[in-house]
Amino acid sequence: MDRAADIASSPELEGAAAALRAGGLVILPTETVYGLAADAGDARAVAAVYAAKGRPAFNPLIAHVSDVAMARRIARFDDRAERLAAAFWPGPLTLVLPIADAAAVCDLARAGLDTVAVRAPAHPLAHALLGAFSGPLVAPSANRSGRPSPTTFADAVEETGAAAAVALDGGPCQIGLESAVVALLDEARLLRPGSVTRAQIEALIGPLSEAEADAKRSPGRLARHYAPNLPLRLNVTEPRADEVWLGFGAIGLPEPLNLSPDGDLAEAAANLFAYLRAADRSTAAGIAVAPIPDEGLGEAINDRLRRAAGFVG
Ligand code: TXA
Ligand code: MG
Repeated sequence: MDRAADIASSPELEGAAAALRAGGLVILPTETVYGLAADAGDARAVAAVYAAKGRPAFNPLIAHVSDVAMARRIARFDDRAERLAAAFWPGPLTLVLPIADAAAVCDLARAGLDTVAVRAPAHPLAHALLGAFSGPLVAPSANRSGRPSPTTFADAVEETGAAAAVALDGGPCQIGLESAVVALLDEARLLRPGSVTRAQIEALIGPLSEAEADAKRSPGRLARHYAPNLPLRLNVTEPRADEVWLGFGAIGLPEPLNLSPDGDLAEAAANLFAYLRAADRSTAAGIAVAPIPDEGLGEAINDRLRRAAGFVG
């Protein structure tokens, strides 16, 4: 990450912080996916984020922070939150907690809820920008609403670059799937599976509630999401002649669109959205995806695939 280290002390970063202070939007690399960032306390900037994504205003945004200290200023941490943040921050885990400072993360960013989602990203550029800005930044994935999240700089710029004052290039995203989202309101609930797995979370705070969270508590769980334009079929071992086949391990062709020829789930997660986009750009009639095992990180991959295909979790 030499380039990221360079930028962390560069005029480009100061330019991005200045753009945010002026109410502008910034394309921001994180270790999960690219985000479209704005000052969390600036309702006009936040409105521009919703507009750029075509996102319904009932779906709240994540407030990104540089560390636990900044998070504690905006959200009320309980013991479970302290434990999870100590174990996984900075990193791909988002905590939904009661709001502590409603002005720091404006009503629109929270979709009017009395809760706030907080995450400290691990990418050096995201961390450096949060340090330079020295306040929380909302940053939804930089895709247009409903589309696959961008995992490369080029994909991010193609999706929402037109709305951004500055676009920061941090290279391809290492993880490739959005953060796991855990609500710690009454019972602990996994609202969105991610690369921090259910088992890792339960090891620290005990069993997660299996009860389906009500729609008000997890507004982002739209049935069709992360979706390419072509129709998508899952668990396919025999694709049709007119389909692009995304393989996994021994099921599928070894080249060029096998998510992981070695059957490595982390590699498959990192490739998933870029390969869906590549398949979408082909002349095929549809996309077929090989079966992905459902354990560990596979839970998050299958969650995204079911939503991309239009099925609810
Ligand atoms: O990895 C990530 O989390 C990326 C990078 C850029 O940090 N960001 C991201 O943001 O995926 P977004 O806006 O695409 O997804 C945020 C998810 C949505 O499902 C939203 O509904 C949920 O978090 N969320 C945000 N605030 C919430 C709240 N107060 N209560 C429940 N869910 C919330
Ligand atoms: Mg998103």
